[in-house]
Amino acid sequence: MSHAEEHEGTRRDFLYYATAGAGAVTAGAAIWPLVNQMNPSADVQALSSIRVDISGVEVGTQISVKFLGKPVFIRRRTQEEIDEARAVELSDLPDRIARNVNIGDVPATDENRALDEAGEWLVMMGVCTHLGCVPLGDGAGDFNGWFCPCHGSHYDSSGRIRRGPAPENLPIPVAEFVDETTIKLG
Ligand code: FES
Repeated sequence: MSHAEEHEGTRRDFLYYATAGAGAVTAGAAIWPLVNQMNPSADVQALSSIRVDISGVEVGTQISVKFLGKPVFIRRRTQEEIDEARAVELSDLPDRIARNVNIGDVPATDENRALDEAGEWLVMMGVCTHLGCVPLGDGAGDFNGWFCPCHGSHYDSSGRIRRGPAPENLPIPVAEFVDETTIKLG
């Protein structure tokens, strides 16, 4: 990837983040001024669950929202990304565990990582499992997924580590659909 492309990736990520911050995280945004007045335990409790409006997320794009102090990527994948992720053999994966807290220790098939059955929605922590940098998205890296430029970790379109020093797949946080256009984290 050229330097210019890398820069473009970073900039796009930032734009999605800014959009999400402005309107998409409804509960988090509304609660914030209140919890600032309270003690830290109330703060943590109030933000331990947020609802994210995903109605504006187009196919082939992602938003990044902050949850419990860390970025969470919510990607609406293209059919190509889904097919690619589902065609991968488990034996090709450095980490064969799904890393999905919603279903426990199961194999790292794409079906076990996507939020919905069709596989359109992928929700995961945007934190590299190597040393915690935030990977670049939108088809970055050699596996059409995410790329962490810190030390060169490549994740595929299911967020599974494929090459580089990161030991584990990007983890899936507690997440569920509460209605067609809202995902609850936590
Ligand atoms: S922190 Fe991601 S590769 Fe090192």
